[in-house]
Amino acid sequence: MSTQALGTLSSSLPLVLVLCSLVYASSLDSIAPQNDSNTDLHALRCLKLHLTTSAGLLASWKNDSLQFCSWSGVTCSKRHASRVTALDLESLDLDGQIPPCIGNLTFLTKIHIPNNQLTGQIPPELGQLNRLRYLNLSTNNLTGVIPPSLSQCSDMQQLSLGHNKLSGGIPEGLGMLRNLAVLRLATNSLTGSIPRSLGSSSSLHSVVLTNNSLTGPIPPLLANSSSLQLLALSNNHLSGEIPPALFNSTSLQKLLLGTNSFAGSIPALLNIDSPLQYLILQSNNLSSTIPSFIGNFSSLRWLLLGDNNFEGNIPMSIDEIENLEILDIT
Ligand SMILES: *[C@@H]1O[C@H](CO)[C@@H](O)[C@H](O)[C@H]1NC(C)=O
Ligand SMILES: *[C@@H]1O[C@H](CO)[C@@H](O)[C@H](O)[C@H]1NC(C)=O
Ligand SMILES: *[C@@H]1O[C@H](CO)[C@@H](O)[C@H](O)[C@H]1NC(C)=O
Ligand SMILES: *[C@@H]1O[C@H](CO)[C@@H](O)[C@H](O)[C@H]1NC(C)=O
Ligand SMILES: *[C@@H]1O[C@H](CO)[C@@H](O)[C@H](O)[C@H]1NC(C)=O
Ligand SMILES: *[C@@H]1O[C@H](CO)[C@@H](O)[C@H](O)[C@H]1NC(C)=O
Ligand SMILES: *[C@@H]1O[C@H](CO)[C@@H](O)[C@H](O)[C@H]1NC(C)=O
Ligand SMILES: *[C@@H]1O[C@H](CO)[C@@H](O)[C@H](O)[C@H]1NC(C)=O
Ligand SMILES: *[C@@H]1O[C@H](CO)[C@@H](O)[C@H](O)[C@H]1NC(C)=O
Ligand SMILES: *[C@@H]1O[C@H](CO)[C@@H](O)[C@H](O)[C@H]1NC(C)=O
Repeated sequence: MSTQALGTLSSSLPLVLVLCSLVYASSLDSIAPQNDSNTDLHALRCLKLHLTTSAGLLASWKNDSLQFCSWSGVTCSKRHASRVTALDLESLDLDGQIPPCIGNLTFLTKIHIPNNQLTGQIPPELGQLNRLRYLNLSTNNLTGVIPPSLSQCSDMQQLSLGHNKLSGGIPEGLGMLRNLAVLRLATNSLTGSIPRSLGSSSSLHSVVLTNNSLTGPIPPLLANSSSLQLLALSNNHLSGEIPPALFNSTSLQKLLLGTNSFAGSIPALLNIDSPLQYLILQSNNLSSTIPSFIGNFSSLRWLLLGDNNFEGNIPMSIDEIENLEILDIT
């Protein structure tokens, strides 16, 4: 599916969504009748069985209790009694593997389990949660790939999987999530290129892919985003030129591209209303001169350009940036 979607990105998108919903709808009918409160009780019991905590922090998750809506970390729907809408289990010293039965909690909109010691893979069954808007599994010890099925969660807005041991590529389908606002995958072992479709969400706000082994260029669609405020791609193996559109953005505040293999020059383009505050390009292979218009980025606070191949003098205009706190052009 992803290969086909790659080729005909815009035209096949509705079809892909329709197909996914059909597949999803039929599986929902067969495994999770909508008003069976036992479904969620079973799934929570299943979770408890797989996630252990030395401190007994899931003690309120009593086996025999039907009042699971009052279990700590569990939030239920107001309209659909006994359907779980949120799991909030941050920093509970949980270890074990996330079991596939989490995919039976089909009313979930939010899963927040960062800063634990979860191991194993992210279950592909999370793709069954078509109401899911927020998934945060950052700072655990998860391995394996980011399941491509996550792109079936078509309402996804915030996806945080940073600081794990994930490998493989970033699924192309994640870029097509139309409400995606935050994508945080820093400090893993991800390879391959940045999805070409990333930037198609008009809500995209933060993309943090720092500390991985990504290759290839910054996709044009991402550079063109008119909502993006933070783009952090430092410490990868990215290459190509820095797209001029990034310096023309009226939204971008932080552009962090240090320690990559970007080449070419800083483009001679300027949006005089640029809100750019952090411009970090150090340790790349940029060349030519540092353009004097850099002094017109009046919001700049950090400017790190060192360890490149720039020629000529440091432009005098840099002295005129009032807010500048840190400057490195050596
Ligand atoms: C399904 O659940 C709803 C409330 O959640 C209830 O009103 C309805 O009677 C249930 N239907 C059946 C067939 O159990
Ligand atoms: C909890 O329930 C499971 C199966 O539903 C059972 O195997 C287990 O022994 C029960 N644990 C306790 C403490 O009752
Ligand atoms: C999901 O729930 C159904 C019944 O509602 C159950 O048969 C199935 O085993 C559950 N799936 C998992 C992965 O636990
Ligand atoms: C991950 O596992 C390593 C040992 O393999 C351990 O040192 C580290 O604390 C774990 N990190 C987390 C966040 O659980
Ligand atoms: C995920 O959880 C961590 C730890 O609480 C937090 O710092 C981070 O901002 C969360 N991610 C999102 C997208 O909210
Ligand atoms: C990248 O890794 C460094 C140290 O290895 C760490 O200090 C930094 O917080 C990481 N950046 C992100 C965005 O995770
Ligand atoms: C980038 O934006 C410009 C102007 O809004 C548009 O003409 C161009 O087609 C866009 N490029 C991409 C790759 O979206
Ligand atoms: C720069 O932005 C203007 C309007 O904001 C747009 O018309 C122009 O196409 C952009 N140029 C580039 C190279 O993105
Ligand atoms: C850096 O760029 C120069 C051309 O400007 C090129 O000759 C050289 O091979 C590049 N070095 C690396 C490590 O990419
Ligand atoms: C850029 O800044 C210089 C002074 O450093 C000023 O003379 C010039 O008019 C500015 N350009 C724009 C487009 O604002």
